[in-house]
Parts: sequence; C-alpha cells; structure tokens
Amino acid sequence: MEERVLANHLLEEEQTAEGSLRPHTLDEYIGQARMKESLRVCIEAATRRGEPLDHAIFYGPPGLGKTTIAHIIAKEMGGDIRSTSGLVLNHAGDLAAILTNLQTHDVLFIDEIHRLPAGVEEALYPAMEDCQIDLVIGQGPAARTMKLDLPPFTLVGATTKAGALTSPLRERFGLVYRLDFYTQEELEIIVARSAKLLNVAMEAEGAKEIGRRARGTPRIANRLVRRVRDFAEVKAKGIITKQVAHDALHWLGVDGAGLDEMDRKILSTILEKFNGGPVGIEALAAAVQEEKTTLEDVYEPFLLQSGYLDRTARGRQLTAKAFQHFGKSRESDLFG
Ligand SMILES: Nc1ncnc2c1ncn2[C@@H]1O[C@H](COP(=O)(O)OP(=O)(O)O)[C@@H](O)[C@H]1O
Ligand SMILES: [Mg+2]
Repeated sequence: MEERVLANHLLEEEQTAEGSLRPHTLDEYIGQARMKESLRVCIEAATRRGEPLDHAIFYGPPGLGKTTIAHIIAKEMGGDIRSTSGLVLNHAGDLAAILTNLQTHDVLFIDEIHRLPAGVEEALYPAMEDCQIDLVIGQGPAARTMKLDLPPFTLVGATTKAGALTSPLRERFGLVYRLDFYTQEELEIIVARSAKLLNVAMEAEGAKEIGRRARGTPRIANRLVRRVRDFAEVKAKGIITKQVAHDALHWLGVDGAGLDEMDRKILSTILEKFNGGPVGIEALAAAVQEEKTTLEDVYEPFLLQSGYLDRTARGRQLTAKAFQHFGKSRESDLFG
C-alpha cells in the first residue's frame, strides 16, 4: 500500500515531461549553493586523481532535485547512470546483476534506498567498500561463494527519510547532503527557464507569482507552469502575465500563500477536528484519509518549514501563522 502511494506520486505524464526540463549540468542546476560547491570540488578532485567520486547520498522531500543531481554527477564524471530503486531490488542476486554490468566510473543510482531489504543492503557493503561482491554459486551443500571484483563506481542514493537509513549503510557514504526547499527567487528562475524550454510566453511578474506559490519545490513549480500554460491558452491568449498566473493558480486550488488543497485540508482538519492540536500523526492521517507516510514525507516537511505546523512530543500542532491563515486566533493567544 505504502509502496503504491509513493510510486504513484509521480504521474507518468510528469515523468516524461520532467525529462525535458531536467538540468544536465551543475551550472544549470539552480540553488542548493552549498551542496553544488562541495560537489564541484569533490568531482574535480576525483577527476584529477582518475578515481570515481565518493559514494554520495541525498535526502529531502520529493521533487527537490535528488534524481536530477544523480544524473548530473554521472555526466560530470563522464560515466553512465544505472537507476534502480530500493522498492524493486528484492534479492541480492538482482543487485549483483546490476553491479557486474557497471563500467568504470558509472553511477549506480538507488532511489528510495531506505527501502532496500536487509539482505540486499548487506550485499551492498563490500561493493561500496572494496568494489567486491560475493556471488553464491550453486545450491544446497554444493553451494560456494565467489568474490568478484567490480569496476570502480559511485553509488548515489536518494531517500525522503534520512532517519530510516541503517547506520552501517549511512556510514559507508563519503558524501551526505540534505536538500533544502528552494527560495522564491530560485523558483522564479526555474519557472522562467521551464517556460522558455516549453516555449511558453511568460512575463517576469508571472514567473514570480508562480515561483512564490510553488511550495519551495521545483517539481511543483514545473507542474504549475504546465497547468498555468493550459489555462492561459484557453482563457488568456496564451500569455502568462501576473494576473493570468494569479487567476490560473486560483483555478488550480493553490491559495495566495502557495498552499494546495491537501495542505489546507490538513491544517483545517487540525483546526476544526482537533482544536488546533496537538494531534498524533495516525489520528490525523485517518481524519484526512491519507497514508501516514505520505503525510510525513510529502506534505509535512513544507508545512513545518514554512511555519504553519509544529511538531511537538504530543503530536502536530498549528502555529499562530496557521490560525491567521484561516482568519482565526489561537485560544491561548486570547486567554493567555
Ligand atoms: N536545482 C534544480 N534546478 C532546476 N530544476 C530542478 C532542480 N531540481 C529539480 N528540478 C526540476 O524538478 C524536477 C524534479 O526533480 P527530481 O530530481 O526528479 O526530484 P526528486 O528526485 O528529489 O524527487 C526535475 O525534473 C527538474 O526539472
Ligand atoms: Mg527522484
């Protein structure tokens, strides 16, 4: 169930559309300045030594650019990328098949790496540490293991849940990066860039309006660009001005603060059914009819970081900003 929800989170249409908007080099990759600077240095140093880049892990909410950066690393290192996911690598043998097909300086990208089964994860350790893999040959009493050397490669992992990684796995990554939500200015640049790539006529103020209301997330910014384009073509002669962007976002259910329908449903449920909280994540998930993991991985990070929600020992709680958003004031503010 959980798997399905996370896998479906990316609609197929978007996957193909995303390919065309994906930056291909570090220079094209907007924002995440500290991460980019660090990667730039490490990539150059590794290249000079003729070695692969250290294994790297990226964590952060969906849509912030983890898959994109994995592709960029492969390209900058001059290798190919092989992509798989912790959700589909079920047996150590599946992993061995992929590893033994790698070429020198390839990147093996494992998405949702926190979902790897324990047996596969353990098979990964010697591959990461010594570029070796233990192959089991034959069955029963005649079975024997054989060590196989692998070409030097870089493992790139991505996860929405840093806390879910086991420490032996985490410790084997030389490079660990957390992706942050993007600023309005960065999203504005991403929106303008995507509009250009999609041949959409957009005024600077239109890009600003979309960037400001994209939940700090490039994937959402790009999705809004495509939907606002549809709206503009049908209702506004195709040109995305500030007003057109505003009307289109309203039509899409994105409010002035950039919250979407689900964000508002979560907040208003805490407000109305749980008196502003605190409420446990299970009770909240049941009330809004959404998977607990989706709430935790997809919705909550932005609501926490933008100051609408607090996480306390007793559960999730609305902030004064959230009360204001709904035109209410918190009882504790009124009565001390
Ligand atoms: N730093 C960035 N600059 C420009 N576009 C970006 C950036 N990061 C992500 N994107 C866009 O957002 C989309 C989603 O990014 P992706 O790497 O698939 O996110 P994740 O793997 O973290 O869920 C990409 O297709 C790309 O178009
Ligand atoms: Mg991804």
